[in-house]
Amino acid sequence: MYNIPVIAIDGPSASGKGTIAQLVAKKLGFHYLDSGALYRLVALQSMRSGTDFTDEIMLTKIARNLDVFFKGDKIFLTGRDVSDAIREEQCGIRASEIATYPSVRIALITRQRAFRQPPGLATDGRDMGSVIFPDAILKIFLTASAEVRAQRRYNQLMEKGISANMAALLQDIQTRDARDSNRSVAPLQHGKDAKILETTDLSIAEAMNTVLQWYAEIGTNSV
Ligand code: CDP
Repeated sequence: MYNIPVIAIDGPSASGKGTIAQLVAKKLGFHYLDSGALYRLVALQSMRSGTDFTDEIMLTKIARNLDVFFKGDKIFLTGRDVSDAIREEQCGIRASEIATYPSVRIALITRQRAFRQPPGLATDGRDMGSVIFPDAILKIFLTASAEVRAQRRYNQLMEKGISANMAALLQDIQTRDARDSNRSVAPLQHGKDAKILETTDLSIAEAMNTVLQWYAEIGTNSV
């Protein structure tokens, strides 16, 4: 189990880490885990069931019992396709609030680690390298300026036909950055063992190639 390589890509909201992790997984034939989707699923289910978002016990129950399955790039919750619904900005904001509860995070650990299957895993989130896969072979902190991230999120929502407002998105991103970085459990930080990938001026292909090159260098150096 533990010699299965993991590439952990952590970073702030809308930095493009999901896109890059997915492409890297495809190139290497690895499995892919979008850990943020799990927090978004807990958020969606809690909103749909009218659960009070300060009720940590109920939210933990939802996290523990999530009836989810991933099929290609589609995500099903209790049999319904929620791939687009979980991308709504409201769901992301609620996910970031829910993610501050330690017992919710603990309830999702086993589910995340189960994605580590041969031949390898590429994953993205906030604590992939620090908490979930501390022995990841490659840890990356992928970031970009808040303005560029707001623009990327705007484009992503437009492509999905979800309406958005640039000024509001920038404000959300800044609020989420502050909450994700300052929480007491598993805060978003670039660990000393993570390589920083600043993508403000990089294309998707350039960022992906950098990750692949770093991964190849590890292989070469460990021979
Ligand atoms: O990329 P974006 O920030 O829009 O969202 P995401 O990666 O889908 O994650 C949604 C929220 O879940 C984040 O704002 C984090 O607060 C939380 N999250 C977390 O705490 N730990 C993770 N490993 C992944 C996401």
